[in-house]
Amino acid sequence: RWISSAVQRGSNYAELNQADVAAFTDILGSGGVVQDETALDAANEDWMGKYKGNSKLLLRPKTTQQTSDILKHCNDRRLAVVPQGGNSGLVGGSVPLFDEVIVSFASMKRILSLDKVNGALTCQAGSTLQELDDHAREHGFLMPLDLGAKGSCQAGGFVSTNAGGLRFLRYGSLHGSVLGLEAVLADGTILNSMQTLPKDNTGYDLKQLFIGAEGTLGLITAVAIRCPFASTSTNLAYLACESYEAVTEVYRRARRELGEILSAFEFLDRQALELTKQHLENVKDPLPSTNTQFYLVVETSGSNAEHDMAKLEGFLTDAMEEGLIADGTIAQDTGQAQGIWGLREGISVALRHAGATYKYDLSLPPPALYTMVEVMRQRLSHHDVRVVGYGHLGDSNLHLNISSADWKEEVRKEIEPFVYEWTAEHGGSISAEHGLGQMKPECIRYSKSPEMVGMMHRVKDLFDPNHILNPYKLLPQRTQ
Ligand code: FAD
Ligand code: MLT
Ligand code: ZN
Repeated sequence: RWISSAVQRGSNYAELNQADVAAFTDILGSGGVVQDETALDAANEDWMGKYKGNSKLLLRPKTTQQTSDILKHCNDRRLAVVPQGGNSGLVGGSVPLFDEVIVSFASMKRILSLDKVNGALTCQAGSTLQELDDHAREHGFLMPLDLGAKGSCQAGGFVSTNAGGLRFLRYGSLHGSVLGLEAVLADGTILNSMQTLPKDNTGYDLKQLFIGAEGTLGLITAVAIRCPFASTSTNLAYLACESYEAVTEVYRRARRELGEILSAFEFLDRQALELTKQHLENVKDPLPSTNTQFYLVVETSGSNAEHDMAKLEGFLTDAMEEGLIADGTIAQDTGQAQGIWGLREGISVALRHAGATYKYDLSLPPPALYTMVEVMRQRLSHHDVRVVGYGHLGDSNLHLNISSADWKEEVRKEIEPFVYEWTAEHGGSISAEHGLGQMKPECIRYSKSPEMVGMMHRVKDLFDPNHILNPYKLLPQRTQ
């Protein structure tokens, strides 16, 4: 299932030699320099098993200074570098294409501080989202984002991806939640903006450039993030709807009627449900007797259990009486709530079990969002594939996945570039939250103008003049 890339190895990059390994051993000690085949195999391959590189060296710095010394050496020697966090990215950004040196943050996982008043949490880049959320919760806070990959994804990785996830609807983008960060530039310069103040209007906000840069501008070594207080009352409903029109109307009313307590609004279609039930034994169907095309996961989070439940029940009763919701259930305890989230978060895991996945992560205006799935189903009807739609409906983010037993290039060619053209024509974005990675740098033009891409190249040149950081990712190849 490994996808062969049309990209050629850059002739400007040096090849690793024994003197380099010795220099890295001087910086890190032998424990931080990994040449073991099993560890390299795992680090060379992405989570989906779609992309495979051929790196011969994995480095594990423990400090920012070590990261800086590594990059200084790589820059002087023109060794290409791939930063790697939890390696859970879905666009091949965290794995090399060729022999790039992998810099892993697995040994930089210290949580540094948590301000008990404003919830500002600081940590090293390798802390996992689960560890951070557990720590925040011990003190009454929670992380402003949540993803199915929380057990493995790391602060440096999710910030470099600008990951969205299940709490985006409530807490917004990391461009707002990240208060500060520390990054090391290609030449080893350390840019420290690890402040925890919510407001700071002193010049350009350079940290924003690293949020979503996918490791192409610098290596993030530490992050300061604003954690909201955890809600004392949370409810989770799982609802069945017959039509997409009903889904969008339920969403519109949820925003209006649940207002400030609405904290997540996710959807999955019948094909996503069936596939997940088929491939994940421990997933239970919360509404086994329904047979509708759409299912919703609606969460409320507030501070007054009685008021929140009354609001949710009133909203659901009205929507049911009007025929917008065919059936529904409210989780009665945390076990049931975890079961519902397990189903929603399990979809991508189930797809991985099912074989090859052609994966698209689109932002589309609500009216066009599910039309895309139907159009694709029609387009691929002569193939033995399953077209699955789910995602963060409250954020207009569709995950369009085409599942097949094996990877077939002819199927991909029927999907692409059509999927990107269609998205652009309907005012969408070809990456809502997963980024571009090595999967779609050439497709950036469907969502950004030539002037914008040109300016991005200039920013890249400024931060990384020798282009050693995550080459072949995010930005298209230059023509001249
Ligand atoms: P990696 O995969 O290791 O890296 C991602 C990118 O960041 C790469 O380009 C890499 O080079 C770069 N990078 C990593 N660490 C650093 C660093 N310290 N400094 C600079 N660059 C770095 N994404 C969403 O947005 N929403 C979701 O709901 C969501 N759910 C997911 C569910 C599952 C089951 C899986 C497998 C993935 C999911 N993702 C989701 C994908 C998502 O991008 C990642 O989970 C997460 O953002 C990546 O974190 P990571 O530490 O694994 O980064
Ligand atoms: C999700 O929302 O489940 C993730 O972004 C992962 C995926 O798209 O499969
Ligand atoms: Zn998602």
